[in-house]
Amino acid sequence: MLRNLLIAVSLLYVANAQCGQNTVSILQKCYSDFVSFYGYTYTPGNMPVYWDLHQVRTKMLRDQGLTVQPKICDVATALFQCTDKVKFDAICIQELGANSSDATSWMTDRAVGNYQCTDGYKTLMADFDCIGKARDANAVALQNCTDTLDYQLTHSINICKDFNDFLACQPPYYDKACGHNAGVFMCGVNRAGIDANLDLCDKLGLLDKCAPYKY
Ligand SMILES: *[C@@H]1O[C@H](CO)[C@@H](O)[C@H](O)[C@H]1NC(C)=O
Ligand SMILES: *[C@@H]1O[C@H](CO)[C@@H](O)[C@H](O)[C@H]1NC(C)=O
Repeated sequence: MLRNLLIAVSLLYVANAQCGQNTVSILQKCYSDFVSFYGYTYTPGNMPVYWDLHQVRTKMLRDQGLTVQPKICDVATALFQCTDKVKFDAICIQELGANSSDATSWMTDRAVGNYQCTDGYKTLMADFDCIGKARDANAVALQNCTDTLDYQLTHSINICKDFNDFLACQPPYYDKACGHNAGVFMCGVNRAGIDANLDLCDKLGLLDKCAPYKY
């Protein structure tokens, strides 16, 4: 979703990349464990194509529903904790064998997976079916939010405003369909995804906070 921006800022990453062999080794071990849950064998330089693994996971969720979600969460939080021992960016993920666009997707996926399975977990489990239905029912409008963000990121100069517009764009569909917490959940998911690749706005205090959950 942030592809255009990420291509734009990738030059900065190249200049700053701190991705030593030790970091790469740790990431290899962490991702090897992660992808094996989805039936892939990681060999150095050979990361699965992101979209393929995403489809495998989506199919698991569609076939098995709520019962498989806790297991998917175990794997997602294990990946986060395992990789949290080292500081890295998308360039390091490329060194595992992902191309540049997949590398940013892996970064996003790691952060979103962790959010869904920690802060968002209670709502994910409580509103699982409704959130899935709302996603399908509003697919066109939700995609429009993403397309608008991609467009704005390459055509405006205020990326923090662009991110905030995006944060406000999708949650109302979930709020309307499934209630307050589902809207908060989607805001949190998108916020985690933004921070995963570019946390500058958040660090400057310019990224809007999501509303608090109400239990
Ligand atoms: C990365 O790989 C995916 C899957 O093979 C492909 O769809 C995408 O276009 C590739 N991106 C780049 C920047 O090479
Ligand atoms: C697409 O998103 C933009 C920006 O949020 C909005 O102004 C426009 O009405 C949306 N169009 C549709 C068809 O939802």
